[in-house]
Amino acid sequence: MKIMEDARVLSQEKVAFQTHLLRLSAERISREARLGQFLMLQVRDGTDPLLRRPFSFHRIDGEQGIIEILYRVVGRGTWCLSRCERGDHVGIIGPLGNGFQLPECDPAPVVAVAGGIGIAPMLQLLEKLAQWMGLEGRKRGIHLFYGVRTAEEFIPETALDTLGITVHWSTDDGTKGHEGFVTRLLEDTTRREKIKPCAVYSCGPLAMQYHVAKWALENAVPSQLSLESLMACGIGACLGCALPAVNRAAPQEDHYLHVCKDGPVFKAEMIQWHKIQTHPANPPIFLYS
Ligand SMILES: Cc1cc2nc3c(=O)[nH]c(=O)nc-3n(C[C@H](O)[C@H](O)[C@H](O)COP(=O)(O)OP(=O)(O)OC[C@H]3O[C@@H](n4cnc5c(N)ncnc54)[C@H](O)[C@@H]3O)c2cc1C
Ligand code: FES
Repeated sequence: MKIMEDARVLSQEKVAFQTHLLRLSAERISREARLGQFLMLQVRDGTDPLLRRPFSFHRIDGEQGIIEILYRVVGRGTWCLSRCERGDHVGIIGPLGNGFQLPECDPAPVVAVAGGIGIAPMLQLLEKLAQWMGLEGRKRGIHLFYGVRTAEEFIPETALDTLGITVHWSTDDGTKGHEGFVTRLLEDTTRREKIKPCAVYSCGPLAMQYHVAKWALENAVPSQLSLESLMACGIGACLGCALPAVNRAAPQEDHYLHVCKDGPVFKAEMIQWHKIQTHPANPPIFLYS
C-alpha cells in the first residue's frame, strides 16, 4: 500500500562528512514500512527541484510513528533537504519496493556489505538479524564489511558498537582499516577465515554490487542486494530505473526489471551485470582482477 503523508521534521543532525540523519514523524508510513523498502521525498515546496528523491528507511519505529533517513549531500535535492529544520514539513510517498527478507536457513554466519551511504538501510537490518540468530547463533558470527572513500565518511562507530557484530573497515585511501575496495576485503577475509555465510546483504554503488554479486555466485551464497538507479517517479510509471535482467524463459531476448517496483532488493543471479553502465560515459561496469 502506497501512502502519501505530510511528515514533520523532528530533528536533523550532521553525523559524518556531508552525511545527515533526519528524523521524521510519519505515523502511517512508519506502521507499514519494512526494512529495505524506500520512500520518495519532496525535498522542498515548489518546482526546484521538481522531482521527489528516493531514500531508504534507516530506522522504522511503527510504535512511535517515527522514521529516520540517513543521507549524503550530493546535489541540489539533498542540499535543500539538509536545510530542513525541526518543525518543517516534507511530503513523502511510501513505503515503496520489496524490502529485505530474513535468511531461509538455520542460523549460520551472515555477511553484510555497505559501501558509502549504503550503510543507511543496514543498521536496523543487522539488529533484526542479531535477534533472528539468537545468542547461540550470534556466536557463529555476523560480519559487516563497511567501506568508504576516506575515514571521515564513516558514521560514528558508536552506532555499530551495540550490535555485537564484527565490523571489517575499509577506506579507498587507507585512512582507516583495509586500504582499497571493500569487496576485496570481503573476498580476502572470508577466504582466509573460512567464513561460509548462509546469506549476504548488500547496499552501495553498482560497481561494488557487481563484485558482491560475483562473490556470492562463485561461493553459492544466497544474496539480497539493494540496488540504486536514478528514479523519476518511484512507482513504476516512468520506466527510468530499468536494469538489464536475466530472462530465464527466453535467454536471447532483452528483459528488464525496474528497481522501484521489482526491487530495490534483488538476488545476484537476476541481473545481467555485464550490461550495466554506471554512467553514460563509462564502459559497462569496471572490473578489477
Ligand atoms: C532505492 C534508493 C534508495 C536510496 N537511499 C538513499 C539513502 O538512504 N541515502 C542517500 O544518501 N541516498 C540514497 N539514495 C540516493 C539518493 O536518492 C540520491 O543521492 C539523491 O536522489 C540525489 O539527489 P540530489 O538532488 O541531491 O542530487 P542530483 O543533483 O540529482 O545528483 C547529484 C549526483 O548524484 C548522482 N545520483 C543521483 N541519484 C543517484 C542514485 N540513485 N544513485 C547514484 N547516484 C545518484 C547523480 O548522478 C549526480 O552525479 C537512494 C537511491 C535509491 C534509488
Ligand atoms: S522510477 Fe519510474 S519506473 Fe522506476
